[in-house]
Amino acid sequence: MQLTEKRKSPLSSLATAVLDPYAANFWLQKVNPLWSVNQSLGKIVKKEQTAKDVVSLTLQVNKKFQMGAAGQHHPVYVNIQGVRYERTYSLTQLDAQHVLLTVKKVDQGKVSTWLVEQAKLGDTLEFGAPYGDMQLPAQTQPLILLAAGSGITPMYSFIQNLVQSGRLGGTSIHLLYWVKTFADAAFKAQFEAWAEQFPNFTLQVFYTQEPSLKHSRLNAEHLQDLANKDQSTVFACGPSGFTTQVEQLFTQAAVVKTEAFSMTPVLGDDVGLVQVTLTKSKKIVTIPKGKSILESLEQQNIKPKYGCRMGICHKCVCNKAEGSTKNLVDSVQNSEPNNQLKICVNSAQTDLIIDL
Ligand code: FES
Repeated sequence: MQLTEKRKSPLSSLATAVLDPYAANFWLQKVNPLWSVNQSLGKIVKKEQTAKDVVSLTLQVNKKFQMGAAGQHHPVYVNIQGVRYERTYSLTQLDAQHVLLTVKKVDQGKVSTWLVEQAKLGDTLEFGAPYGDMQLPAQTQPLILLAAGSGITPMYSFIQNLVQSGRLGGTSIHLLYWVKTFADAAFKAQFEAWAEQFPNFTLQVFYTQEPSLKHSRLNAEHLQDLANKDQSTVFACGPSGFTTQVEQLFTQAAVVKTEAFSMTPVLGDDVGLVQVTLTKSKKIVTIPKGKSILESLEQQNIKPKYGCRMGICHKCVCNKAEGSTKNLVDSVQNSEPNNQLKICVNSAQTDLIIDL
């Protein structure tokens, strides 16, 4: 018997590629890395350092890319040594084909370290659909923008959008920005140029660890000179302690929207272990109190679905049938049965039963 090798004809390869988006993308991207039948992709065309450990990547995006509103977040997918990671970043639209992705390297942060240190011109990143309700009001109204550290990126996006749409001159906008040292302030020259050009846009930068200044963290004194406080829409982004302080200080403001990118440190009484019953996967695991339920489950090799890991995207939400939890961003406790639970930003206070 004679064995003959059966080769696929070019037509049948094409047919396979047409039916299989992975194959189609593989061949398309041999020609152009931004071509894809279904992926939203961006190619890095510029990389610049905007502050200490912070880079801004300018990306040329393809036709599948769906730009969110200024202030919203996008899932960003990167492949590092063959492993695909998802993180969440706020993007700034520069023009119809270009967006700006600003990233600060965080301790132990695999993706942020890769983006800051290794990503290079020509590399492509994949994006998911935008989400988040931190968005500019449709009508022009006074704004107070408060940012700490990396929380400046959605604020930059807001102001860039207001400049592009010709709305920055139309109302009072105050930006208050806290960083540790001079080297940590991103986009400062650009903000100063806008403040020069638009008299109703003001900027104050506070340096909490700069030896010659040692400005204080956000407190009531910072609000004294702000005009239109009660009529303003207030946006704040920073660590959880910062956003909690904003909510306490601006109880009279017309609208307050905050987003935290870190969680409150574990308190002394949040120690010990609890049992979590996972009804769908029929498992019972023991996890520590006071720690993100998502992280604790991952450490037990259980991989629940997640997206932003910051309580914004809702991808990790599951039903909590029983038990008490504490939100790690605002410390609010919840003991109600049958409640929607974001496992990324909640810790267990008692034994739990969750539908995972
Ligand atoms: S992973 Fe986004 S809300 Fe939990």
